[in-house]
Amino acid sequence: MSQQFQHDVLVIGSGAAGLTLALQLGKNLKVAVISKGAVNQGSTYWAQGGIAAVLDDEDSIEAHVEDTLVAGANLCHPDAVTFTVENSRDTINWLVQEGVEFSRNADKEQSFHLTKEGGHSKRRIIHSADATGRAVSETLTLRAIEAENIEIFEHRVAIDLIKNEKRCQGVYVLDRSTGHVDLFRAKFVVLATGGASKAYLYTSNPDGSSGDGIAMAWRAGCRVANMEFNQFHPTCLYHSQAKSFLITEAIRGEGGKLLLPNGERFMDRYDSRGELAPRDIVARAIDHEMKRLGSDCVYLDISHKSPEFLLHHFPTVKARCLELGIDITRDPIPVVPAAHYTCGGVMVDSNGCTDLANLYAIGETSFTGLHGANRMASNSLLECMVYGSSAARHIMGRVTVTPNPLPAPKWDESQVTDSDEDVVISHNWDELRRFMWDYVGIVRTDKRLERALRRAELLQQEISEYYRNYKVTNDLLELRNLAKVAELIIRSAMSRKESRGLHYTLDYPKTLDVALDTVLEPTGFNR
Ligand code: FAD
Ligand code: SIN
Repeated sequence: MSQQFQHDVLVIGSGAAGLTLALQLGKNLKVAVISKGAVNQGSTYWAQGGIAAVLDDEDSIEAHVEDTLVAGANLCHPDAVTFTVENSRDTINWLVQEGVEFSRNADKEQSFHLTKEGGHSKRRIIHSADATGRAVSETLTLRAIEAENIEIFEHRVAIDLIKNEKRCQGVYVLDRSTGHVDLFRAKFVVLATGGASKAYLYTSNPDGSSGDGIAMAWRAGCRVANMEFNQFHPTCLYHSQAKSFLITEAIRGEGGKLLLPNGERFMDRYDSRGELAPRDIVARAIDHEMKRLGSDCVYLDISHKSPEFLLHHFPTVKARCLELGIDITRDPIPVVPAAHYTCGGVMVDSNGCTDLANLYAIGETSFTGLHGANRMASNSLLECMVYGSSAARHIMGRVTVTPNPLPAPKWDESQVTDSDEDVVISHNWDELRRFMWDYVGIVRTDKRLERALRRAELLQQEISEYYRNYKVTNDLLELRNLAKVAELIIRSAMSRKESRGLHYTLDYPKTLDVALDTVLEPTGFNR
């Protein structure tokens, strides 16, 4: 039997963004957090490098802002960058207060150890060894479980937003354990659903990064922006048994060198910052060298550091590599670029408000203007928490004057049956991720984008027919969302007639003097 729930605030997503918001709402509010898998299954748990913040006396807000603007290839919104960076110290203080344990120096004061990553001119990445996301996720989850006003619903997949009287009033949610679709109504709904890197064949992301929030918001009439800027992380482990394992950029921050198969260094030929150039430049250089040499991967070597240093700073990477027969104290690590981060997303203001009243978007699913054409390393977790906090404050200011949600119809399953052809779904998943990788990847052309668009449109026709006739499952819902997001990525890429940051096209290799966002607007909505 389908169920009905009512809360003050419904948060879709239990990563850094969703949990920060839930924990910072007043304890008098009734809050639901839903997660389509176990509570810690999003990208947050897998974050390695850390969180960028101005914590060192040698550093300054101006320097962090400037580095972000440079990495973002002139497309960041300066007000969003300043807002985020100015709130970085308070964010870290809050995390420490909640109980997150960050790595410390062995000095008398036990000050925080700060590492470096691409694009940063200073050491400013606070971290928990090389498993920062796990530390953040476990701590915030524990606090959410302890909070009496927060109810956590795991293995529940949000399908679509409910809109009534021009405001968001709730969500239809698939309960994966019963197969029923429940109705969740709330005064405020928050999309904290993470990114869409699963649109690509090779990715550092866990399975759920299928752009659900972006697709749901689009279907509800919200604008999305800058979807062409999907970030490729330069160094994912290349090994037949390693699915999506990242080799943190902090390894390069601590002196790791990128090498060709013959042992030659090459990054200095591409950028004076060498291995610590922003990610778009490093990923493109690796892609170029691999294609030039016909090699399957390049190598990352940190073996000049002592085994003790490597064990202390990179225990997770060291252990995972060793399981696969790679001893990072001696051997260079085989690496390739892989889809990592969605810089674009649902358009929001500095409070996380979307185009639809009472609907918020925070974290990787949102577009705040912070990242421009290329996100600087470790600015993402920071954004999740800064905007999670500002959205929480905004909701608190409106909750007493916002009416309860109106009644909504139950999900209608009378016209659908169980699918007898799941092969259609798995085939379409593979096809989508492969053509996105081949045609809409690190290097693009008009022709490749046109081919990709035709396929994305065809897939969507097939998927919507399937969706109309069969009961929904998680795989079908993710595929439906990914196909829509793929189309948005392709359309955004087609409309940018220049190369900038992560968007590189052989047809328009130059960067234009004027930097503009790509804003897509769904048709037929009266705003
Ligand atoms: P996520 O943490 O991805 O959480 C999404 C949540 O939404 C999940 O709970 C998921 O179950 C839920 N969800 C999604 N769709 C639905 C649906 N339809 N219904 C119900 N629930 C749904 N960034 C940094 O700043 N520093 C780093 O060191 C760093 N390292 C990284 C390493 C890796 C391997 C990866 C993959 C990313 C890394 N990033 C890093 C990026 C960063 O981790 C993410 O951008 C950030 O964690 C996103 O947080 P989020 O809360 O927006 O989403
Ligand atoms: C990494 O540790 O290399 C990931 C950092 C990030 O994506 O911000």
